[in-house]
Amino acid sequence: MFDGPAAIVTARVMARRNLDAEREAIEVLDPRPTDRVVAIGVGAGVGVELLARRVAWVFAVDPSRVMVDETIRRTRAAIDDGRVVVARSTAARLGVADGDVDGAIAVNSIQMWEPLADSLAEVARVLRPGGRLVTLTHDWAIERSTGRSVDGWLEHLDGLATAAGLGGLRSWRAKAEAGRSVAVELTRRGGR
Ligand SMILES: C[S@@+](CC[C@H](N)C(=O)[O-])C[C@H]1O[C@@H](n2cnc3c(N)ncnc32)[C@H](O)[C@@H]1O
Repeated sequence: MFDGPAAIVTARVMARRNLDAEREAIEVLDPRPTDRVVAIGVGAGVGVELLARRVAWVFAVDPSRVMVDETIRRTRAAIDDGRVVVARSTAARLGVADGDVDGAIAVNSIQMWEPLADSLAEVARVLRPGGRLVTLTHDWAIERSTGRSVDGWLEHLDGLATAAGLGGLRSWRAKAEAGRSVAVELTRRGGR
């Protein structure tokens, strides 16, 4: 669905439908202009494009060749300026040094992270102490991909995240998708 010949159509649909969710995740993260941010499961790259206007550096990751190419196309100028790097990889393997980023966002992708525990540990590794991961995810995507209810998934996530070093899970109904999406914030332990 996210790769192969038909994926370009998926990319265009997602770019339109999920723009508000990407914008909302960035609002929640509220990064400073000097921040370095990892964006995970970026799809067509609309969130990367928005982030690149607000922060010093964005490291964008997606395992799909089509999505990586779309993101590169969309953010070419920022890539050429050295403010965006796009990598074909997954949440479980972020090519960033330990504690090198201030924040992370993932819109409609965390439900696909495999293995979830290793992916959360990898996010914890790259975040500085006190840095936050913000996710927004369609309810239906959580239920379909994980086989859990949203509440059951949040409980599962909380346990794995705590073990990985990401604590203080907060969750609430996102504005995007008319409330049919859940926002989650996790904080890298060790901060003030
Ligand atoms: C539903 S799309 C969402 C894309 C974009 N953030 C949006 O909301 O429009 C999910 C994206 O996550 C990517 N993905 C799948 N498995 C992943 C993983 N393990 N780590 C990171 N991204 C993953 C897919 O390739 C796809 O581009």
